[in-house]
Amino acid sequence: MKIKTKQIAEIILGMQAAYSKGENAMEWCREYFHRANETVEGNDLIATLVAYDLQAGSYVSAVRADREKNQSWCRQLASLLSSVLADGDSILEVGVGEATTLAGVLAESGTKPSMAFGFDVSWSRVCVGRQWLHENGQRADLFVADLLSIPMGDGSVDVVYSSHSLEPNRGKEEEAIRECLRVARKAVVLIEPIYELAPREAQARIRNHGYVEGLRETAERLGAKVSDYRLLDYTPNPLNPSGVIHLTKDGASNGPKDQFTASVWRCPVTGVALEAGTEFFYARQVGLAYPVLRAVPMLRAEHVIVASKLGSAVGK
Ligand SMILES: C[S@@+](CC[C@H](N)C(=O)[O-])C[C@H]1O[C@@H](n2cnc3c(N)ncnc32)[C@H](O)[C@@H]1O
Repeated sequence: MKIKTKQIAEIILGMQAAYSKGENAMEWCREYFHRANETVEGNDLIATLVAYDLQAGSYVSAVRADREKNQSWCRQLASLLSSVLADGDSILEVGVGEATTLAGVLAESGTKPSMAFGFDVSWSRVCVGRQWLHENGQRADLFVADLLSIPMGDGSVDVVYSSHSLEPNRGKEEEAIRECLRVARKAVVLIEPIYELAPREAQARIRNHGYVEGLRETAERLGAKVSDYRLLDYTPNPLNPSGVIHLTKDGASNGPKDQFTASVWRCPVTGVALEAGTEFFYARQVGLAYPVLRAVPMLRAEHVIVASKLGSAVGK
């Protein structure tokens, strides 16, 4: 669905007002589309972006208030990843939020990844995440991107995982899993609410919130092998039960291991190589640029700048 500029303004201001009154901003947006007779399955990305951006800082505050809870969560994830993650592998968390999970996974992991990456649709959360990683002595490259168009090459990261970030993308399960499988060389480990295994009360809540369904069936349709599929022992919110769906690509682990280079980045609009820079990322071949805002690369298709002369004397 194409949202008009006037609607974008109404949605942003409406969601901000709802949030400041302590209401559920994403629910406000679902109702907005309903009132406008627009059919949106699940949540539109603008709703996810605005709602999570408004909450930036809340996850770090929650971890500061209860470090043990975060540690239990991250320890469980690190253990799930340990079967596929070898020393020197690279790792990517999609929908990294404030990196409270990524930082903990890196700390709890028995193996040392060569590179860690994380992206989120919300710039404010990525900024908080950069600070959190720094404060916790962990290193990862964080950037803004859309899960449905990851600006990285095919098989460019050894292990891709999620921690409740596919969650609000109901109706886009296939696009999301296809992108994760495309970017992963070895495995994709999805830690998400599993509608099909959830108790009835939790199922009703999952539906109500526009969360994903049918992840296993979708992954198998896309040709992935499911080697682990179950609800997890430790779940922070029993009404949103976390499960694991461990996916391997057929023959993927036998493929060549690309060393990380700047060419791992791909233009989300055209798919051509993207040169990384401190001021902007540049798809030289097609003259498209993506800004870097306060050290955060903005790599969504919506951030593209047509700048064919950026690489020449005119752009210097
Ligand atoms: C429930 S939070 C989890 C954050 C983090 N993974 C963690 O474990 O703390 C979900 C996150 O996924 C992000 N997200 C959801 N859909 C996304 C999409 N299509 N592209 C990028 N980020 C997305 C949201 O902005 C949010 O920060």
